[in-house]
Amino acid sequence: MARDPRERDAARLLVLGAGPAQLGLLAAARRHGLYVIAVDRDPSAPGFRYADRRAIVSTEDEAGIERLASAERVDGVIAPGIDWPVAIAARVAERLSLPHPISPETAALSTSKLRQRERFTAAGVPQPGYVVCSGAAEAADAANELGFPCVIKAPDRQGQRGLTLVAEPRHVASAVEIALDASRSATLLVEEHVAGRELTVNGFSVGGRFRPLTVTDRLTAEPPAFGVALAHVWPSELDPRTIADAIEVAGAAGAALGIADGPSYTQILVGGDGQPCVGELAARLGGGHDAELCRAVLGVDLNGLALAAALGRPIALQQLAPVAREGGGCVRFLVAPPGQLRGVTGLEEAYALDGVKGIRLYRQPGHAFGALLRGPDRAGAILAVGAARADALDQADRAAALVRFDVEQAPASPLEKV
Ligand SMILES: Nc1ncnc2c1ncn2[C@@H]1O[C@H](COP(=O)(O)OP(=O)(O)OP(=O)(O)O)[C@@H](O)[C@H]1O
Ligand SMILES: [Mg+2]
Repeated sequence: MARDPRERDAARLLVLGAGPAQLGLLAAARRHGLYVIAVDRDPSAPGFRYADRRAIVSTEDEAGIERLASAERVDGVIAPGIDWPVAIAARVAERLSLPHPISPETAALSTSKLRQRERFTAAGVPQPGYVVCSGAAEAADAANELGFPCVIKAPDRQGQRGLTLVAEPRHVASAVEIALDASRSATLLVEEHVAGRELTVNGFSVGGRFRPLTVTDRLTAEPPAFGVALAHVWPSELDPRTIADAIEVAGAAGAALGIADGPSYTQILVGGDGQPCVGELAARLGGGHDAELCRAVLGVDLNGLALAAALGRPIALQQLAPVAREGGGCVRFLVAPPGQLRGVTGLEEAYALDGVKGIRLYRQPGHAFGALLRGPDRAGAILAVGAARADALDQADRAAALVRFDVEQAPASPLEKV
């Protein structure tokens, strides 16, 4: 059988993850003519359709990933959209002498909420008050000291796993159990709850120079889905001074962790005092189609830049300059009713709406949706643009109303019938 010429000639990239968070980068890799080997332990991962080769390997299986990278003679490795594999990618790249935008040290710092907090403290980067604890008694003291509500979280997870907003002292113990259950390190963080607004600074660094790209408002769900993003909206509606301060803080946070090259995704919290502080920084692309939004509104191919960084290709500063502009844009996430997915209808009608640039569905028929509690419970996303942010949001809402998730509801349990 004739071999695909790309298999012979194209640069070979190993992509860790083929889930919803990697869809945009995988599509971009195909657009850029790369030969892509994608890794995911889920054979039905939606991103596999963009890959030339798929490997059913966990994105956390470092030895398996290294063997694969070696056997496939890859030219680069990237972990877009998810935290833990960012450190694996950096270590594997170093061991195989592949180019990589960040060092293993920087990657390790950026994948630990605790270690980055320590660095931020040392560098004077503003962040919420926090205490690291290993059990319920310590956490109770920390919570009393920081005040209620407070936030209890696992230091090394994402997607709201192990994360709880704790309103009162009597809920500390269960939140500690949830955090320790999720934690990889037998520690947890108790944090001051910064009530207010949230921004995301999507940036890219070249040779030590940090360039902010889209600064978006992160709109989140109410408890029990505490912290789950329902939309990222550009431009932020906060005042220009606060946005400028948020950009400065994001740049300082990246520098504190040693990010000199490649993408960064910094979540900023703005409390009642109006001062931005760092919720968390990831040395990677955002996992909520943030790079696609950036390309749609600023004309900057952030996925393409991340690909170039992963392959050690030179990046010219003009590639970071906005060239085309929409007045507004958003990624609005879709939530399905609980039950087993039979199918989805209304996509064509939704796509036909003005301003709707893309619709992503995360799950295949047969998937069982539960109630919305964490990021992975979301069902998909719509990317929309418009003359202003409100227009983009309106169109995304209209499109979302047209997309119907046909689910089979679980029969009521006998207890509920009583
Ligand atoms: N100290 C805090 N003060 C206020 N809100 C917080 C705090 N910590 C977390 N949150 C809320 O929870 C969200 C997720 O927090 P965090 O990034 O720590 O968890 P995560 O599991 O890594 O989530 P993600 O995968 O979305 O990054 C934040 O965007 C914010 O809405
Ligand atoms: Mg996170």
